[in-house]
Amino acid sequence: MEDAVCRKLIMEARKAQRHAYAPYSKFTVGAAVLAEDGAIYTGCNVENASYGLSMCAERNAIFQAAACGCRSLRAIAIAGDSDGYTAPCGACRQVMAEFHTGEVIMVKPDDTYVVVPLKELLPYTFEL
Ligand code: THU
Repeated sequence: MEDAVCRKLIMEARKAQRHAYAPYSKFTVGAAVLAEDGAIYTGCNVENASYGLSMCAERNAIFQAAACGCRSLRAIAIAGDSDGYTAPCGACRQVMAEFHTGEVIMVKPDDTYVVVPLKELLPYTFEL
């Protein structure tokens, strides 16, 4: 993934992060997905007083893309404020696999990033 595209996705993920609803963990996350047709979809984490109902930023972004008809995704950028790169949880990796996500862009607080193929983050994917 070219640097300019990564930077654009990171900027969109940061914008989405501002809308995060995280009163319990105080850990805000934003995600931006690049669909096959070039469209960008974003999401943030949305928590709930019943903690298990909370939803990650990545899945909110991917489901937004899916709800608009996308079935194949080129990349997803994930931006949080953890010390190192914000990496996706296992559940989100499986959802990324469902929609054939190619590359995962993990971002540090200073917006430096790494690009890792999803196949490296989730080998031996479960599929039907
Ligand atoms: N979270 C995400 O949205 N994405 C990640 O990659 C890691 C965790 C959210 C879930 C919860 O709202 C908060 O961060 C703390 O786990």
